[in-house]
Amino acid sequence: MLPLLLLLLLLLLLLLAAAAPVDAAVPSLPVGVNYGANADNLPSPTAVASFLATHTTINRIKLFDANPAFISAFANTPISLAVSLPNSALPSLADRQTGLDAARQWVRDNLSPHVPATNVSLLLAGNEILLSTDKSLILSLLPAMRRLAQALRLEGLPHVRVSTPHYLGILAPSDGIPSNARFRPGYDTKLFPPMLQFHRDTSSPFMVNPYPYFSYRPETLDYALFRPNRGIYDPNTKLNYTSMFEAQMDAIYTAMKRLGYGDVDIAVGEAGWPTQAEPGQVGVGLREASDFNEGMLRVVSSGKGTPLMPNRKFETYIFSLFDENQKPGPIAERHFGILNPDFTPIYDLGLLRQSESGAPNPSPNPSPNPTPKPAPSGGGKWCVAKASASDTDLQNNINYACGYVDCKPIQSGGACFDPNNVQSHAAFVMNAFYQDNGRHDYNCDFKGTGVVTSSDPSYGSCKYVS
Ligand SMILES: *[C@@H]1O[C@H](CO)[C@@H](O)[C@H](O)[C@H]1NC(C)=O
Ligand SMILES: *[C@@H]1O[C@H](CO)[C@@H](O)[C@H](O)[C@H]1NC(C)=O
Repeated sequence: MLPLLLLLLLLLLLLLAAAAPVDAAVPSLPVGVNYGANADNLPSPTAVASFLATHTTINRIKLFDANPAFISAFANTPISLAVSLPNSALPSLADRQTGLDAARQWVRDNLSPHVPATNVSLLLAGNEILLSTDKSLILSLLPAMRRLAQALRLEGLPHVRVSTPHYLGILAPSDGIPSNARFRPGYDTKLFPPMLQFHRDTSSPFMVNPYPYFSYRPETLDYALFRPNRGIYDPNTKLNYTSMFEAQMDAIYTAMKRLGYGDVDIAVGEAGWPTQAEPGQVGVGLREASDFNEGMLRVVSSGKGTPLMPNRKFETYIFSLFDENQKPGPIAERHFGILNPDFTPIYDLGLLRQSESGAPNPSPNPSPNPTPKPAPSGGGKWCVAKASASDTDLQNNINYACGYVDCKPIQSGGACFDPNNVQSHAAFVMNAFYQDNGRHDYNCDFKGTGVVTSSDPSYGSCKYVS
């Protein structure tokens, strides 16, 4: 009797241990992420889209352009997109005579081919336009937004909302007390009232990029990182702020409310923290980046809200998905990423699905077959690369399939690393993908670069599953 009881107890303990999240403090919440690709080491957009859709809780992606390869990569995924127009496109859309036609043409060329397969939910008119010193560009912003919204309705895409991301410099310099905030003089009378009215009329969010990273000093690091700190006290509202992010959000809210638009939704277009910066810079690293983003996620996604906006949620896009090694500027600019190019997390943000520790068995195309991997049977079938396939296509297959299958065997030190060439590596992962997804012929198609064979391609210690 006793051994059985012990066994049961042990089993219970094991179950409890397995059920406990890796880190109870880490939220597992839906969130958006910016996907910039100013880098030469990133996986293909389709590999990225498949990985995000099947392995993470990320449900929104923001692009800095309207690259068709990126937009189509998210087709038939549950991830919605924010797509951006370049700043330079705005003046032609603002033109009183020809602007609407130009906007319709832009929508027809750039969105219509992809919607509804891809869920484009936001169209962003440029990026941080108000930073510009070009006054005519600034004056074209709101007219361009209006024409885009009208064009979207006329082209049958009324659910695509129009907005534009603002840098925090739209606020007048202040003492950091949220209730003292206001928009910069000039903007507060001429630009923002009609723009906020546009957002209210079209149910679109006012989008801001709050970056405590660009405002902190070593003394305010804990306040910037959501770590325990004395905070600041707002004597007008009698509210305490223990994070700079919440203070910045409430400052924006205060400025909007002052103009009578406290009801308009606020979205966070970008916010993040780098993992590397200039040598000696205090407050940058893995721990810091993870503390900031976790704290921010709790504010924007959990329903907690901010002191002045309790219980509100904010559509938010973390900056950024990957480190971008080709970006100019200070070191930090290239190190805001949360994922490595091989999809392992740079630091744990709790955005990977909990089932990750088990054997993930995602379906390649969202619908066709959640069929579990069949048990090995005799009369094996394997998927390999066609000899005629180009290295470029095969490299794309590797990038894509490695979003789903274990690619360690083809990495340095793995059993299938040698021969170290694209053809051999691609064959290994294409086969693993084919086996994992039910061994249908179409699982081995890879745009015509794969072929099913009945002869086992295994060699030495490199075993091809079947
Ligand atoms: C598209 O995305 C938006 C925002 O994420 C979501 O509310 C909406 O339900 C999605 N539409 C479809 C058809 O999935
Ligand atoms: C806020 O902070 C002030 C000053 O530190 C303190 O006196 C006050 O009790 C705090 N109020 C709340 C509501 O926590």
